[in-house]
Amino acid sequence: MKVNYDILAPIHETTARDRALAELRREAPIQWDPKNEWWLLTRHADVRYVSRHSEIFSSEPKGPWHVFEGHFSMQAMDGAPHLRHRNIVNRGFTPRMVSTLSERALRYADEAIDALDGRHSGDFVTDLAVPVPMRIIADMIGVADGDLQRFREWSDAMIHMSAEGTGPEMRAKSAELVGELSDYIGEKVRERRETPQDDILSRIIEAADEGVLADTPDSINPEDRLNSDEIKDMALFLLIAGNETTRNGISHAMLALLQHPEERARLMADPSLWGTAVDEVLRWSSPVRAMRRVALEDTTLSGQKIREGESVVMVYASANRDEAVFEDPHTFRIDRSPNEHLAMGFGPHFCLGSNLAKMEIRITLERILSRLPNLRLVKGGAPVFTPSALIDGIESLPVEW
Ligand code: HEM
Repeated sequence: MKVNYDILAPIHETTARDRALAELRREAPIQWDPKNEWWLLTRHADVRYVSRHSEIFSSEPKGPWHVFEGHFSMQAMDGAPHLRHRNIVNRGFTPRMVSTLSERALRYADEAIDALDGRHSGDFVTDLAVPVPMRIIADMIGVADGDLQRFREWSDAMIHMSAEGTGPEMRAKSAELVGELSDYIGEKVRERRETPQDDILSRIIEAADEGVLADTPDSINPEDRLNSDEIKDMALFLLIAGNETTRNGISHAMLALLQHPEERARLMADPSLWGTAVDEVLRWSSPVRAMRRVALEDTTLSGQKIREGESVVMVYASANRDEAVFEDPHTFRIDRSPNEHLAMGFGPHFCLGSNLAKMEIRITLERILSRLPNLRLVKGGAPVFTPSALIDGIESLPVEW
């Protein structure tokens, strides 16, 4: 049966989108979309299976170009090269590093709230969701405090360059700024190589120089070491993967709590609910809406034949509302447990920054709820969503306090 649903169409009215996805899960969970030439996967079990079986479903950009191929670095690699890059970045994410970053996240959240001094309204996204993830990534890749303003312009340009609504002039300007960012990061890589610091970039360079490998330490060979350009791409990828996604996670967390005042009151009364609440925000909002893979061989998925070379799009936004896995999937429940959402992916490409992102969302929201307890939507105000098939983003959210 054919269900009409185009993931590229801008359906931002959540209930309409959810109804369409529920119909797909029920009637056509693996549906061929002839316009975009891909299979659309909407059930949790299929999304999980494809994510886990990277030997059959490749992350490398293949086939005709479309929106899901703007990716590079480890997220677009398979097998041993993927694992090598992943292990290198993983060396940066030590528990001590994440604990240092959580102290900073607390400071940055407080500074963002301090900066509102004297004001009683603003845009939640610009004022409160942007600063923490942006400054944390800046710390990770060694951006000096004095360069923060430029870094903010660069990271916004990075977002504009890949956004679907960006016009040609803005795209050209953004590309120029991203070029500047790339040079800047290249400079940081050179600096850290000469004088390592206590930051993730220095750990990544160390690991890359040592040749951290997929298989065994004895098989290190000089060709496995990454050059400075590859490390620069890795740092740029961390910025893409961890900045906008976490910003959107923070905005979605606030929006969900504004829309569910009873859950917000429970959370404020019992902070021990934060652990489950953050996962519920991620399940509820799926800040990364979908990802793509390409079949490396003819295969069968839940009874449907998929041919070598065909694309499959895993719709996390649908898997995370699958009735077969979640009780009352359309209810936002901050104490939901278990909560096997796929908002951070699954299997070999599972999000490397998952703990970091959850920590940032929690700390930012905790500080906001405690210091601006009466923060509310401006009367008549509404969120503006990002026009994108890939990212479920919030561009602006007018609030007052
Ligand atoms: C709410 C915030 C975030 C969400 C929703 C999110 C979501 C995801 C998803 C769905 C994937 C899997 C992609 C795939 O299977 O193809 C992924 C991978 C990844 N994420 Fe995140 N992410 C978030 C924050 C972060 C942060 C803060 C960082 C680091 C600074 C980060 C770094 C990565 C990396 C490096 C990968 C690639 C892992 C691999 O390919 O092995 N993410 N993320």
